[in-house]
Amino acid sequence: NFSVAIAGGGSTYTPDMLEMLCLVREDFPLRKVVLYDIDADRQEHIGKFGEILFREYYPEAEFSYTTDPQKAFEDIDFVLVQIRAGGLKMRELDEKIPLKYGVIGQETCGPGGFAYGMRSVPAMIELVKTIRRYSPEAWILNYSNPAAIVAEATKRVFPDDYRLINICDMPISIMDIFCPLAGGRKRTDVEPRYYGLNHFGWFTHMYDKKTGEDVLPEMLEKLKTGDCDRELGYSGKNDDYWNFTFRHLEKMVQDFPHSLPNTYMQYYLYPDTMVKHSDPNYTRANTVIDGRERRVKEYCDGVASLNQIRGTQYDLDLKYSRGSHLDADGSFASATVAHNDAHATYIVELAMSIAYNQNDIFLIITENKGIVPNLSEGMMLEVACRVGINGAEPLRIQEAGAFEKGLLEGQYAYEKLTVDAALEGSYQKALMALTVSRTVGDAELARTLLDEYIAANGEYFPKL
Ligand code: G6P
Ligand code: MN
Repeated sequence: NFSVAIAGGGSTYTPDMLEMLCLVREDFPLRKVVLYDIDADRQEHIGKFGEILFREYYPEAEFSYTTDPQKAFEDIDFVLVQIRAGGLKMRELDEKIPLKYGVIGQETCGPGGFAYGMRSVPAMIELVKTIRRYSPEAWILNYSNPAAIVAEATKRVFPDDYRLINICDMPISIMDIFCPLAGGRKRTDVEPRYYGLNHFGWFTHMYDKKTGEDVLPEMLEKLKTGDCDRELGYSGKNDDYWNFTFRHLEKMVQDFPHSLPNTYMQYYLYPDTMVKHSDPNYTRANTVIDGRERRVKEYCDGVASLNQIRGTQYDLDLKYSRGSHLDADGSFASATVAHNDAHATYIVELAMSIAYNQNDIFLIITENKGIVPNLSEGMMLEVACRVGINGAEPLRIQEAGAFEKGLLEGQYAYEKLTVDAALEGSYQKALMALTVSRTVGDAELARTLLDEYIAANGEYFPKL
């Protein structure tokens, strides 16, 4: 039986992860689950809830939470990493500083991603070193942001560590949402081909697993015609962000109809509309702080025994009684649509593909060594890989078109310079990074943003 540690245990994503581990206890049996966080108070809310959940639903697995890295990482097979350096407090500033100047204010795209990257790179490097001290062979499944910049940094600092895998849930979420446009298929009915940088890429094909037919053109055709909400059973009418994102995805497919872009491309292709649609005084960070953060904490604090779990999302007896949670193909696609746990689903599927050497296809961030031959060697590409006991094996992709290549090389220059700045402590590289980012573009503006970020981040930033 396997052992799992979750770094960033205090995250409000953790309860869904714990739920998922409980749900798959027969297919992926665990002997131990440990939460680890540097913030003991924050983690305690989640940890206490986890204790009750595991006592009731998973007594054969030992559950604990700790701030001691040795206790967390010794004797561990999988470490799931979801840290947020600087917390949501700093995310809020990442987003609000550029919006003051009419520039994209987003967690990972544009200047916000730069600032977050400057904090994440040192934090992530330190964490990986710590994990490796206690578990040299554990699989580290990392989905900390900004994933593109984090992956560029880990590639440089841990070049041979193939058990360190960087991933993101966004492409998979896009598949979950939009694959039904292809004759009602689920994402697990198809095998994707996708390439790009993290939060900056395109689906090029979507092959039906049984027939081999590429169903992406059918999906694109429907997106082009505009209103897919009904066909998708989409009823998120109150979710302003997703309503807007749906319309933008349709627009992107109308403007550039040969591929299906990652939804994050809207920040790079239509920055003006994105900025106009943003409230500089109330950003996504505020929505999360006032929404998910509060809700999950209050929920966890309110659970003192199984009684309080009954009838809620974490009432696993209800879920068990529906029979196997696994679909016929061994995935959980249909079991998890009820709530926002794509992260949890995807990460557990990935861990199982490694543990049982299933060599299933996942979209992984990995070094371009000829995968897309006309893009920079060393570019950290997000691409379809088969993943098993020996790590991720990328599938080859056709050459990038001039449009994509131009966008990608510019974005990669920005990401590389950001990592240079973080590792070398270089103000000059930081200034170049922000200047080359298409979301900024102006060197004076880049300097203004950089100086504000340095002042706001204090000790969180490397000394520049
Ligand atoms: C998607 C992205 C993640 C990101 C998350 C933000 O899942 O792939 O990289 O962290 O969205 O979600 P939030 O609800 O915190 O804005
Ligand atoms: Mn992501």
